Order: sequence, then structure tokens, then C-alpha cells
Amino acid sequence: MGGEIVRSERIEWNLKSSSSCLPLAGSLCVSFTCHCSRPRNLESIAAQGEVTATLKASIGSTTMPHLLLHGPPGTGKTTTALAMVRELFGPELSKARVLELNASDERGIGVVRNKIKNFAAVAVGRPVEGHPSPPFKVVILDEADSMTKDAQNALRRTMETYSRVTRFIFICNYVSRIIEPLASRCAKFRFKSLQGDVMYDRIQYICVEEGVELADGSLGMLAKIAQGDMRKAITTLQSAFRLKGSPVEKETLLDVAGTVDDAVVVALLDACVKGEAFATVTGMVEEAVMAGYPCQELLIKLQEVLINDDRVPDGVKSRCLVRLATVDRCLSDGADEQLQLLSTLGYVSGACLKIS
Ligand SMILES: Nc1ncnc2c1ncn2[C@@H]1O[C@H](COP(=O)(O)OP(=O)(O)O)[C@@H](O)[C@H]1O
Ligand SMILES: [Mg+2]
Repeated sequence: MGGEIVRSERIEWNLKSSSSCLPLAGSLCVSFTCHCSRPRNLESIAAQGEVTATLKASIGSTTMPHLLLHGPPGTGKTTTALAMVRELFGPELSKARVLELNASDERGIGVVRNKIKNFAAVAVGRPVEGHPSPPFKVVILDEADSMTKDAQNALRRTMETYSRVTRFIFICNYVSRIIEPLASRCAKFRFKSLQGDVMYDRIQYICVEEGVELADGSLGMLAKIAQGDMRKAITTLQSAFRLKGSPVEKETLLDVAGTVDDAVVVALLDACVKGEAFATVTGMVEEAVMAGYPCQELLIKLQEVLINDDRVPDGVKSRCLVRLATVDRCLSDGADEQLQLLSTLGYVSGACLKIS
């Protein structure tokens, strides 16, 4: 576990210059830095053994396929792509051989095509010593699932036109949002969430590297909050450290993560199961929203509590879960949080009423 850390990619945790909206503890209003780290090579990427071993084996081969890296957020997809090109070309040659485009860049298909065209048009240049430097360039399209179907379709052609001199690495969370003709041209690799020991080890490694201490129970809490998402673990740790310094307490982690208090959701479900008046439920929803809990978090908790509630029969549970999935989709599409929460609870309430 562990391995080298890329200094240039370290994030500065500078309190003075931070524009963070988090309040700072008075005693901490001094400038100091703490860092988070991104593994530099394929060996240091945790928990994705099969993926990294296969990629490692393909390094050095001039027949490297196009790649599609997919899986939940914070599991090392971008890190793997960057480590891979670094191993292929070394840090210097990477500048000339790798084009990285992510969702925040202008990605209209015209722009993408032009960028790729200009990039592919320049000759590949000499290999560097110590790195295989195969005779092609690499285009990394991060967050490819946020590209429209039309843009993806247009990319097919671009891929074909330049396939002799370029390889594409597509990165996405939802592989189902990548159109089949693109996906079928790539070797697909699925990244798993980081669970249990792997998460613990990695957090501990980062804490040692950064000189951050964790109070009793904080490690477990951080892993629980992160739910397999290493980026979430790192940013939560960063924020908690910024807020209260070292050692990082369990309560601070909970505060900064905005984790929903179990009691709030239990009370909401209770009101539904007992068939409380509409006004009561609306009031509770308003309170929860005012408390600033993100609706998606509330729903995830609600799902947990609902599944474990013995008063609700299995049939009702399954119908409510289908509803929760629909609401989750609506929220991802930008629906109003309060309305969605109300509609969910209204549904649960109605479903419970039918059985009582
Ligand atoms: N498998 C992993 N091993 C080690 N660190 C990881 C791993 N996955 C994620 N990380 C850490 O989490 C951060 C975000 O990872 P990233 O590769 O950007 O995730 P994503 O899968 O969303 O592209 C990185 O800076 C890295 O330090
Ligand atoms: Mg990424």
C-alpha cells in the first residue's frame, strides 16, 4: 500500500487563502498546509488488482486497445489513467503525447473534434529512455458519460479516423450512458468501491503522510461516511482537519460530512407508518430541509431505515424502494428536493395506510 506521491498534484490546504465557507476555529487562523495524495504508479493503486495488473501487462505493447474505465466515483479511475500514461511516456513526453479533456472543458463535438485533430496532426516524436513510449498518442476523455449521445456518435468517426495514431481512454461512472458503438470499440475495466481494510489502510497511509492524527473511532467513521469513495474520504478528512485541526474527532467528521442524523429519518418514517396528518409530515419535511440535509442523503437513510423496519411488510417495502429509485433519478435530473421528499413520504404513507 502507499507508494510515491505526486507533489505537483497535491492539493494545498491553505487556511489563509482558503475561500472555504467553513468557519475556522480561532486558534487555527494561521497559515499551514496539509496535503492529499494521488498514487503515482499503477502498483500503488489500491483494490483494483485485476485492472491494474492487466493494464500493466499491456504497457509496452504497441497494440494497446482503446480503454473504457468505469465504476463508482472515487475508486481510482482518473488516477489509473494518469498513472498509465505516465508509465507509458514518462512525465516529460506525456505533455506532448497526452490530451486530457474533462467535463469542465468545452466539449461541444466541434471543439472536441478540432482539439483531437490538432493534437493528432503533430508527429509523435522520439521515444524517451526508460519508458516504452509506444508510437501513438493518448486522448483521455474523463466523465465521458456527461457527453450527449450526439457528441458520442460523432466521436465514433473521430476515433476511426485517428485510430492509427491515437488511443482513447474513456472514463465514466455509468457505463450504460456510453453508447454501444463507442463501448464496443474499447476494452472495458470495472472499478470496485474501496471497502473495509483497503479503505482503512489507505486513510491511515494518507494520515501518516500528512501528519494528521485520528481520534478514537474516527477511522471507522470516515470509512462509513465515505462508502467506498476515496475522494469523499479525503475531502471529508481535509474539511474536518481544516475546521478543528488534529487529532480529527468523530463528531467533526460527522459535522462536515453533513451526514443525516438517524433520528430525523426514523421520525419521518414513523410518521408515515402511523399515518400522521399531512400537515405534520409536511412540517417535518420542512424542518429537515431547513436543517440543510441533502435530500439524496435523507433518501439513502430512509431506504436503510425502511428495509429494517419490521412493521412494514415486504411487499410495501419493495414498492417503496422502486419509488425511491425513481425519485433518486428525478433528483439527479435536477428536480426540486423538497417536493421529491414530500412525494416519497406521501407514497410511503399511502402504501402503509393500505395495509393498516
Ligand atoms: N484505488 C485507489 N487507491 C488509492 N487511492 C485512491 C484510489 N481510488 C481513489 N483514490 C484517491 O482518491 C482520489 C480520487 O480518485 P480518482 O482517481 O480521481 O477517482 P475517480 O474514480 O472518481 O476518477 C485520488 O486523489 C486518490 O488519492
Ligand atoms: Mg475521475
